[in-house]
Amino acid sequence: MEQTLTRPASGATQQDKGGSSATFVDGTVRVAAPAKVNLTLHVTGRRDDGYHLLHSLVVFAGLFDRVILEPADRLSLEVVGPNASALAGVPTDDNIVLRAAWALAAATGSRKGARITLHKMLPVAAGIGGGSTDAAAALHGLMRLWDVRLPTDRLLQLAGGLGADVPVCLRGRPTEMSGVGEILREPPPLPAAWLLLVNPGVPLSTPQVFKARSGDFGKDMPLSEAPRDAAALASALAVRRNDLTAAAISLVPEIGRVLATMAALPGCLLSRMSGSGATCWGLFTTEYECRAAARALRLESPGWWMEPAPLLGAFDPFELAEGQPFIR
Ligand code: C5P
Repeated sequence: MEQTLTRPASGATQQDKGGSSATFVDGTVRVAAPAKVNLTLHVTGRRDDGYHLLHSLVVFAGLFDRVILEPADRLSLEVVGPNASALAGVPTDDNIVLRAAWALAAATGSRKGARITLHKMLPVAAGIGGGSTDAAAALHGLMRLWDVRLPTDRLLQLAGGLGADVPVCLRGRPTEMSGVGEILREPPPLPAAWLLLVNPGVPLSTPQVFKARSGDFGKDMPLSEAPRDAAALASALAVRRNDLTAAAISLVPEIGRVLATMAALPGCLLSRMSGSGATCWGLFTTEYECRAAARALRLESPGWWMEPAPLLGAFDPFELAEGQPFIR
């Protein structure tokens, strides 16, 4: 199945169906923007415009920024939360959330505004799609706030114009992604699993990592069958790669230490880098093992950012923001 979006981009919402979502209680819309995690990332070629062709198994972790949207006459954005300071140097007008809002207003002809607050929990420039997932959440939220919608192919095109990872973030479920991020396919079902996300605290620029990459191009390696459990998923991923790892380590050697330290943690089935880094993930079967590993690692490396989180199946970003259970 290519280029499909699940609700709520299709327009049907919990609210429409008379559901219990608290999203609309006072006219405020709350949307979760979960961390994007590349379980694999093969660089398969390079286009004439410099963008790289990729093949990647993308999933989302139950750890997220929140985008809060309130009715207003004009568009505004405030960034708050533990990682807001990392965006302090970025002029607000350059923030991808506002660029997403302007693009949606232009595409739909909406003249409404929104007071947008971004609660920044995820590390910035970290390979877990912070800006992309925020932009996708803003698009979902604004479509609801403004009561507008776009055909799926038009919405995905708009998303791709904001950033290569925005379409996959908009889709909001495990996805096999290729091209430069515009070809989205349904992968085989993935098992329940937990991810420990660890970042050594050094921001990495995606263009710089792509520039530092050398060597041959890889090939597509889609999963051919559904792994029956987390261990089988780890075995399938172990013969696949993140082709940006060596380049990222050349720029931030500490990533090598993160990967080695995580691999040695009890219960860690596999550790790899996400996206262009520097965030790495460890794969665990159970929440208990993942949290125990996080506790041990926190003692060993107190300077690193780390969070345990479940691997999400298809999720509703509105329900996720309200802390309701995710859908597998
Ligand atoms: O599209 P996005 O803003 O996420 O990409 C940032 C930069 O990363 C691009 O300008 C490009 O240098 C590099 N990139 C790439 N190939 C991709 C995605 C990103 O070369 N598929």
